[in-house]
Amino acid sequence: MPSEVSQSPETPTQPPLQPAAQPASARILAIAWSPRAKGNTEIIIDEAIAGALEVPGVTVERYSMVGKKVASCVECYRCRELGTCYQKDNFQEILDKWLSADGLIYAFPVMHFGIPGSAKVVLDKLAHVMFAKFNRKLPRFAKPAAVLAQGSSRYGGQEVTIQNVHGGLLMMNCLPVSGDTPGSYIGGPGFSATWEKGSILQDEQSLQVARNLGRRLAEMTLVVKSGLMAMESRLPEGYYFTWQRAGL
Ligand SMILES: Cc1cc2nc3c(=O)[nH]c(=O)nc-3n(C[C@H](O)[C@H](O)[C@H](O)COP(=O)(O)O)c2cc1C
Repeated sequence: MPSEVSQSPETPTQPPLQPAAQPASARILAIAWSPRAKGNTEIIIDEAIAGALEVPGVTVERYSMVGKKVASCVECYRCRELGTCYQKDNFQEILDKWLSADGLIYAFPVMHFGIPGSAKVVLDKLAHVMFAKFNRKLPRFAKPAAVLAQGSSRYGGQEVTIQNVHGGLLMMNCLPVSGDTPGSYIGGPGFSATWEKGSILQDEQSLQVARNLGRRLAEMTLVVKSGLMAMESRLPEGYYFTWQRAGL
């Protein structure tokens, strides 16, 4: 049977790709989602950040949830008019940092087989503010994202937690990045043998996987940003969202 190859239409009027588009730098936002200072989440995210910084052209802003207050969504939908949540807490600064980042690193402590409640509150609102603002039609954020989750049981819900966060990232039009095989098939699971701070340091594989994932994330952030720059004349506006461009 003859094979058929389909090609999308390429008209002579198609604008040219930008030659050799290279981002001067890519900005990565790394959020440590634990409420505990200097714990295993911070250790693991610092490994991922170190991995990311091995890649030239990348800057990383580290943000910790320690001491941060974010109130739950109360489904008032005032965000439709305000473009953010009416509640005065740390949410607005997280939203601003999230929107301006080219790539994301998230690290969580596993709690009750999932993410901590405080992280869920932020991620709920991040999505809902965007959905409300854009009447459920999100911009194509296309941010590569690396997710790490460590817990004190070796099989304590790390992969489920990562998958759950990956689902949320997909919903947000972002791009979850895998680890490299054979070390990790999915993000950065980690094992912190006890509940003590620093116990993750006993598990060399957790650290290696985190470092590798950070590096992969930085590489993919540059790849996606370069591609977006090269394709700017051909792609819909939705890929290039900023509050300024949106006139908000
Ligand atoms: C409320 C709570 C629930 C937890 N649930 C889990 C769990 O379901 N699975 C697991 O492996 N570890 C669980 N842990 C252990 C933490 O994930 C572990 O101690 C982690 O290293 C804490 O990270 P941190 O030092 O950055 O805060 C739980 C800890 C707390 C405080």
